[in-house]
Amino acid sequence: MDVTGDETRAAWAVASRKYEDEYAEHLELARTVVLLPAEVEALSEIVAGADVVHPMSGHGLDDIALTRLGARSVLGLDYSEAAVSSAQRRADELGMPCRYTRAAMPASGLDAACADLVYTGKGALIWLADLPAFFAEVHRLLRAGGWFYVYEAHPLVPLWDWHPDEIRVRPDRGYFAPSHVNDSFPANGAVERQHTLAEIVMACRRAGFEIEHLEEHPEPFWRPDGFAAAVWDGRLPNAFSMLARRA
Ligand SMILES: C[S@@+](CC[C@H](N)C(=O)[O-])C[C@H]1O[C@@H](n2cnc3c(N)ncnc32)[C@H](O)[C@@H]1O
Repeated sequence: MDVTGDETRAAWAVASRKYEDEYAEHLELARTVVLLPAEVEALSEIVAGADVVHPMSGHGLDDIALTRLGARSVLGLDYSEAAVSSAQRRADELGMPCRYTRAAMPASGLDAACADLVYTGKGALIWLADLPAFFAEVHRLLRAGGWFYVYEAHPLVPLWDWHPDEIRVRPDRGYFAPSHVNDSFPANGAVERQHTLAEIVMACRRAGFEIEHLEEHPEPFWRPDGFAAAVWDGRLPNAFSMLARRA
């Protein structure tokens, strides 16, 4: 099993070519992109005028949406050069106040108390072996009273089989397993870290946050085009969102 994170980083070095290959497509999406309705509801007041840091920023479309919602600035962090360079080029082309820098979380390399909001998710927490170290870094980055927000795949998602008609649990996965190897798009071969919902909430609280809002969502934040699995029919959790305030 990948203890160092090397296999995951190697898988992302390959997978992140998509950020360059799909540049034009993402540029078109970026012209109109908005956050998910649950995100807008949780963040619209908080984000107005905020300096935002976005760990694991990926293609950066959420950063464009955050600025559209009123963020003063967004700083995206990602260890993929292809991710940060293509996201920077897109933000510049659209004149959005987003900057990108390479960083391997949980070491952001940023100054303490530089952010009003740390936003992340949609395939972010699963790459972190050390959740307490991540939340300690988020806490360090936030100004007093600042906010942490995550919209993420539900920790049960690795157990869902994508059968079109029947709800099935994968026999090779366990909710309490520490990790599994990704066998689908995009980071095939990467080691996904599994954190239960309780572990995520408790790691956040122990780092010095108060949980303001926690919600489970039936809808996955991403589906392959033209495909519907029974586990997405509204009966099961496929995502969660959490808003927490730095005490
Ligand atoms: C599935 S993408 C999701 C990011 C973003 N929400 C999006 O939708 O594009 C995950 C990103 O996390 C980055 N990543 C994974 N582990 C990381 C780490 N430890 N530090 C920084 N970036 C990381 C990868 O390079 C990739 O761009």
